[in-house]
Amino acid sequence: MDVNFIGALAVTQAMLPLLKEAPAGRIVNLSSSLGSLTLNGDPASTYYSQRFIGYNASKAALNMLTIQLSEELHGTGVVVNSVSAGFAKTDLTGYSNMTPEEVHGFPYNTLSQVMNQASL
Ligand SMILES: NC(=O)c1ccc[n+]([C@@H]2O[C@H](COP(=O)([O-])OP(=O)(O)OC[C@H]3O[C@@H](n4cnc5c(N)ncnc54)[C@H](OP(=O)(O)O)[C@@H]3O)[C@@H](O)[C@H]2O)c1
Repeated sequence: MDVNFIGALAVTQAMLPLLKEAPAGRIVNLSSSLGSLTLNGDPASTYYSQRFIGYNASKAALNMLTIQLSEELHGTGVVVNSVSAGFAKTDLTGYSNMTPEEVHGFPYNTLSQVMNQASL
C-alpha cells in the first residue's frame, strides 16, 4: 500500500503544480487487472482465484486515485489514466519461466508499450 498507493499519491501531489503548467500534462498510474473489483468478483475471470489481498487492494486504491484525480483535474489539460501491464517477466513475478512468445499473448509486454497505449 505504501509503494503502490501512498507513493503514487505523494509523487502526484509533488508534481501537480508543474503538470498543470505543462501544455499536455499526463499522469499514468501503473495498475494491474488484479486491482479490478469487477474481475476479482467474477468467478468466470482468471483473476478471480488470484487472492493477493495486499497487492490487489493497493491497486484497487490506485484505481480510485485515478478516477478521483481524473475528475478533479477535468478541464485543466491534465489527463489521468490507469494502465495494466499485463503479465510481464520481471523481478515482481519472479522471472517466471514464460518465454517472450508465451508472454506475447498478453496485451502489453514492455513498459514502453504500456506507456504508448496510455498516451492515446
Ligand atoms: N510484472 C507484471 O506482470 C506486472 C503486471 C501488472 C502490473 N505491474 C506493475 O508494474 C509496476 C512495475 O513492476 P515490475 O513488474 O516492473 O516489477 P519490478 O521489476 O520488481 O520493479 C519494481 C520496481 O519498484 C521498485 N520498488 C519496490 N519497492 C520499492 C520501495 N519500497 N520504494 C521504492 N521503490 C520500490 C523497485 O526498486 P528496486 O529495483 O530498487 O528494488 C523496482 O524498480 C508495478 O507497479 C507493478 O505492480 C506489473
